[in-house]
Amino acid sequence: MSGVLDDIKTVLGFYEALGIERIPFEISAPALNPTVKKGGHTAKVKAGALGALKEEMDECTGCKLSSGRKSIVFGEGNPDASLMFIGEGPGKEEDIEARPFVGEAGQLLTSLIAKMGLKREDVYIGNIVKCRPPGNRDPEEEEIAACLPFIKRQIEIISPRVIMTLGRISSQTLISTRIPISRLRGSFYAYEGIPVMPTFHPAYLLRNRKDKHLVWADALKVLEKLGMPLPPLKPGRGPSK
Ligand code: URA
Repeated sequence: MSGVLDDIKTVLGFYEALGIERIPFEISAPALNPTVKKGGHTAKVKAGALGALKEEMDECTGCKLSSGRKSIVFGEGNPDASLMFIGEGPGKEEDIEARPFVGEAGQLLTSLIAKMGLKREDVYIGNIVKCRPPGNRDPEEEEIAACLPFIKRQIEIISPRVIMTLGRISSQTLISTRIPISRLRGSFYAYEGIPVMPTFHPAYLLRNRKDKHLVWADALKVLEKLGMPLPPLKPGRGPSK
């Protein structure tokens, strides 16, 4: 694998030397399932680029969160995903497992993804900050600023067709606004031309189950935007858990 990564680094270095700032991926017409795969042959290149970025993060000490972490939670999923979910930052379980959204809130997200007719492996799941804030506090502005280039580069590599931001921090950060999440959710915004649907964080839903139908309504808009079939669900039902 490291041979492949070295090859990709060489190719990317070549583009960089030519002054090309964006990787010239060919975004071909949607394949059979337009939501799951966009370009087939680009997936390997994107996986390599994500691998190289992950290696670049190794041992990162860009902010004080690095001193308390067990793991850097880089993100996971389909490198060529049409749909990307972006959360806030790892919690306790994520820090232990080095995987995003694997705790209780993560199970709720997994169930939302399933209700949307998808699997976790079909989408890409990332976070604004990659190291666990102590006691699961909100990440601070400097911590967000230090980590932001990484999620931006993940988005650039994956080039999703739609992004769903989970909760206040990721929504406000990506959309560059202070508007509260309760007002942001439910409408599309744009990040670098990519439609962004802000919605409530799954951890909020664990405490406010009555609002699950709102997240489900947001998810339906996302499916519609992606041109995916809308799953038949009983009215008012959101992701279960
Ligand atoms: N909450 C987040 O925002 N991200 C995770 O990965 C887990 C919980």
